[in-house]
Amino acid sequence: MEIVICPDRDKGAAIAADIVARYLDRLQQPILGLATGSTPKPLYHLLAERHHRGELSFRRCITFNLDEYVGLTPTHPQSYRYYMQQHLFDRVDIDPNKTHVPDGLPADPAVLRETCRDYEAKIAALGGIHLQLLGIGANGHIGFNEPMSSLASRTGIRTLSRQTITDNARFFQRSEDVPRYAISMGIGTILAAEHCLLLAFGDRKARAVAAAIEGPLTARCPASALQMHPYATLILDEAAASDLQCRPEYDWAAANALGTPGTNNF
Ligand code: GLP
Repeated sequence: MEIVICPDRDKGAAIAADIVARYLDRLQQPILGLATGSTPKPLYHLLAERHHRGELSFRRCITFNLDEYVGLTPTHPQSYRYYMQQHLFDRVDIDPNKTHVPDGLPADPAVLRETCRDYEAKIAALGGIHLQLLGIGANGHIGFNEPMSSLASRTGIRTLSRQTITDNARFFQRSEDVPRYAISMGIGTILAAEHCLLLAFGDRKARAVAAAIEGPLTARCPASALQMHPYATLILDEAAASDLQCRPEYDWAAANALGTPGTNNF
């Protein structure tokens, strides 16, 4: 794992934007895995700004989002499709047909299972994801793979944990409107990406970050599965890094790295 600790989230987002830009510039058909939540917002903002300045194009790029709620229309302000349109897709030159967010409708298990199979098949047919962006839940979840999800899981229907439902309640007017289910790439799907780039900012993430990096490899902390990934970069701010025990090791490795952040897979 490459651990990059930044003074604040703006610096972290800028480093992440450089990494994404490298893939967009270098590859003929870059395939990006995208995440939602508050964490990647400053990154998407920087990418949109760079596009606006004519420095970055998404024209050749194909995207697959990690997850989507079951039961929300794409125009629902809390849907992840809506989030992506607002924060990135409508602000850059990406071909809308090349953006993929799992479809959480209709809320019929048979149809959703088919959607999940198709999603996996589409990613595989394109040769897999080059760069997968990730956030982390305060309980260590990645995508909507809650604690105790199989570390080998593929895209499927997920039952949200009580904690996640409670956390999300603030975004909905009535508690009965809070989605109970989601479609999510599995941990196995995430681990199949060539490069995983996890961002974590703020002290609310400190415990989960420490468990993911320094704890045992365990389904209790789904993000700890990244310990098995050959090329995972974790960008943290000081607050998210505050529970790490081996900080001097990360600082030493960063100070002595041969490459720029995001290129040092060890
Ligand atoms: C949701 C998403 C995750 C995201 C997490 C953290 O549960 N499904 O992909 O990483 O929230 O969100 P935030 O970045 O807002 O802390």
